[in-house]
Amino acid sequence: MMRLFGRWFGRTPASTLDSLCLGIDYSGYPVRVNWQDRCLLAIGESGSGKSGLLASMLVQAEPFVQAGLVQLYGIDLKQLELSASSGLFERIAVTPDDALHLLDELNMMMTKRTEHMAGNTRDYTTSAQFPRVVLVIDELAQLFRQDTKTNREFQNRLTALLGMGRACGFLVWGFSQNPRKEAIPVRDDFYGTTIALRMGEAEAKLLLPSTALQAGLMPWTFPDIPGLCGMWDPDERRASLFRTTWVDDDQLRSLTRDSRACSAAVPERAA
Ligand SMILES: Nc1ncnc2c1ncn2[C@@H]1O[C@H](COP(=O)(O)OP(=O)(O)OP(=O)(O)O)[C@@H](O)[C@H]1O
Ligand SMILES: [Mg+2]
Repeated sequence: MMRLFGRWFGRTPASTLDSLCLGIDYSGYPVRVNWQDRCLLAIGESGSGKSGLLASMLVQAEPFVQAGLVQLYGIDLKQLELSASSGLFERIAVTPDDALHLLDELNMMMTKRTEHMAGNTRDYTTSAQFPRVVLVIDELAQLFRQDTKTNREFQNRLTALLGMGRACGFLVWGFSQNPRKEAIPVRDDFYGTTIALRMGEAEAKLLLPSTALQAGLMPWTFPDIPGLCGMWDPDERRASLFRTTWVDDDQLRSLTRDSRACSAAVPERAA
């Protein structure tokens, strides 16, 4: 199954505003995640490597954040997963109340942008004036473990964001251990890339479309190697198998949205 990476070995093609490049798959193709107008849902059992996957995506996203073209927001009810990379985020909500407020704010920002676009342009283009907004939710299922009323509030706000956001630069990246619709009522509103990490056969069959299974994505057969990902790209109708690039905590903590913090680390050139 494992092929060597040939001439790509040790090198990753550049990420662009259209796609983040996460590495090279076992067939030798660059693994590109559309982050222009597609959301992302990554599911895998505990310890399968979801946070590692997010870390490698954040490393790729950092230059675009520093350029002011992308803004990251987070929801992390475990209060753990996003803390190391918090320097890259505008704001991270860690309680259900805070998460509801954040979703309200994002929905308001989205409505404002749509109103502006309605009078000016049909197509959204990412710019410093209208940056792309990516909401990262670690453990999506945790959001829906509240009382019935709160669960419904989360569902309504997320459905609105997932439904209207892509057309005006608002995306959601969701991560979860559990792919079941009872656990994530908004699962089928994620239109975009699906990444399956190690999980059981029943879970995989709930998550992946039959075309992905026919294309050979079988995450229940993955060996016990953290970071092994099966990606399904619905646009290309292509399945890729790859391992995330490991990002250690120090590297994660060094991520910042402030480009001046990076240039300060570059020594002055001698005159
Ligand atoms: N690409 C990788 N290379 C090497 N080790 C990895 C890689 N990805 C993950 N790991 C190892 O696996 C461990 C678990 O990964 P991670 O924390 O990303 O899992 P998770 O799916 O987020 O789990 P949980 O659902 O419990 O949060 C990490 O602490 C790390 O030691
Ligand atoms: Mg995790």
